[in-house]
Amino acid sequence: MYSSVLAFHNLIRWVVLVAGVIAVIRAITAWTGKRAWDTQDKRIGLLFTVALDVQILLGLLLYGVFSPITTHAFANFGAAMGDATLRFWLVEHLSIMLVAAGLAHTGQTLSKKATSHQASHQRAAIFFGLALVTILAGIPWFRSLLPQFLELPGILTGLLA
Ligand code: HEM
Repeated sequence: MYSSVLAFHNLIRWVVLVAGVIAVIRAITAWTGKRAWDTQDKRIGLLFTVALDVQILLGLLLYGVFSPITTHAFANFGAAMGDATLRFWLVEHLSIMLVAAGLAHTGQTLSKKATSHQASHQRAAIFFGLALVTILAGIPWFRSLLPQFLELPGILTGLLA
């Protein structure tokens, strides 16, 4: 169960990032080009926030239930806070991603409530942009870029061994 949740958490990061990049580019180009706010703008914002929520849910499952890293760290919280890697998992990754989710949801709500097309794009550009930068800063890039079962070099090595 741990490896499946971790694999999904790894993979859905790409859905979040791709949706976030598209949402920000659409919002900036529409804002500067004075394009109307349309259904596609609503949809991409929704995909970004929903994928982020799924990712938060999977992350919380790892954090509170499945991850041996956090289980080990909780066993001696004080000592874990003195270790940079354990502190990253216990505090930094969690809090950075919760801030990002807050920013993305604020962008989604404010752009829906805006009274002009330009204001919708402007709010989406600012809040989705900030959320995306925050997510990029909180991703553990030192870990594998794809789930283990999708790593081609690993699969090839396994087949040849
Ligand atoms: C409250 C939110 C989140 C929590 C509590 C959380 C928690 C965790 C934990 C505990 C791990 C390590 C699991 C382990 O190796 O045992 C992890 C790994 C990871 N997290 Fe999160 N996470 C959250 C949000 C996110 C978000 C929003 C993203 C990206 C959009 C993300 C991307 C990743 C990646 C890429 C890994 C490494 C996966 C791997 O090595 O296969 N996390 N997360």
